[in-house]
Amino acid sequence: MKEQKHSESLFPPRKSPQIWLTGAGGMLGRQLAEELDHRGVPFIGTDMEVDITDEKIVMNFMARHRFNWIINCAAYTAVDKAEDEPDAAMAVNGAAPEILGSAAALRGARVFHISTDYVFNGKSDTPYTEVDIPDAVSVYGRTKLSGESALLKACETAVVVRISWLYGVYGKNFVETMLNLMSEKEEIAVVADQLGAPTYAGLLARNIAAFVGGEALPAGIYHYQDKGRISWYGFAREIQRMGIAYGILTKKCRIMPVTAEEFKTAAKRPAFSVFNTGKIQRELNFSVKGWKENLKQYFEERKDLKK
Ligand SMILES: NC(=O)c1ccc[n+]([C@@H]2O[C@H](COP(=O)([O-])OP(=O)(O)OC[C@H]3O[C@@H](n4cnc5c(N)ncnc54)[C@H](OP(=O)(O)O)[C@@H]3O)[C@@H](O)[C@H]2O)c1
Repeated sequence: MKEQKHSESLFPPRKSPQIWLTGAGGMLGRQLAEELDHRGVPFIGTDMEVDITDEKIVMNFMARHRFNWIINCAAYTAVDKAEDEPDAAMAVNGAAPEILGSAAALRGARVFHISTDYVFNGKSDTPYTEVDIPDAVSVYGRTKLSGESALLKACETAVVVRISWLYGVYGKNFVETMLNLMSEKEEIAVVADQLGAPTYAGLLARNIAAFVGGEALPAGIYHYQDKGRISWYGFAREIQRMGIAYGILTKKCRIMPVTAEEFKTAAKRPAFSVFNTGKIQRELNFSVKGWKENLKQYFEERKDLKK
């Protein structure tokens, strides 16, 4: 675990912690750790030092603490590599959520779990709701889908939130990849026939922290992403526009639209990843903002981090 203020391995927590945050060194995990810290919510953040694929380790860890929530941000997220490493992906994405769910159920705790739009095949042309039938088209998607159902079976009070195209200031992500490529190259190719919406980790973290700190009754599956729909190509164009406005890019690079067929990747991705987010707004009181507004917020947050 890297730099975690309340991490067990670095500092003993101030009060008896109520939240176990797994994957606390990852992109979403770090953002959430920062948000919980900011709100003064006691938590213990862990990464590989508490291997969530090991049932004995998880059970022992749970027995030593009194958590009321496990927020699971740990995952195997290398989507293309997963095609060659299905067992490794299944252990973290498919089996570990069940282990966490069983441990939570045994100890009277709940699980807040993050899943993905990749559980769908992307053949729809209307925003996916929580009652739509998943049909994953990649190993990563299948392992995440299997983790969702195993968790919900093991722990009926669990909350599963599917998100899409996650980006945040603490990880490798599409926005940073684009900014790097745009500053190095004269021309780049970006997929224009996959539609979806990004998920800004900053706002997602605020929503999760507010939810687990509140009354928090509902359970089940929810869809969350920023408002509006866009292709990767459209997203890249806006990243370039803001990159120039924020003085990060000093020149314009040509952005060429290509099809997913032309831009070969090991794993297949859904062509349509737009969610209906009505349920999470109504039942969990999550705030949803437009993707452009969130992207601007990201650039602001990035600017503050670099100071
Ligand atoms: N990134 C996206 O575009 C995207 C899109 C949709 C949904 N999601 C979902 O969003 C969630 C957060 O994603 P993210 O991008 O923040 O992930 P991330 O940056 O890859 O972080 C995942 C974390 O999990 C840790 N981890 C892996 N295996 C573990 C194990 N066996 N035990 C304990 N910790 C382990 C990793 O530690 P190490 O670094 O030490 O391996 C890493 O810190 C995941 O559930 C992901 O599936 C992501």
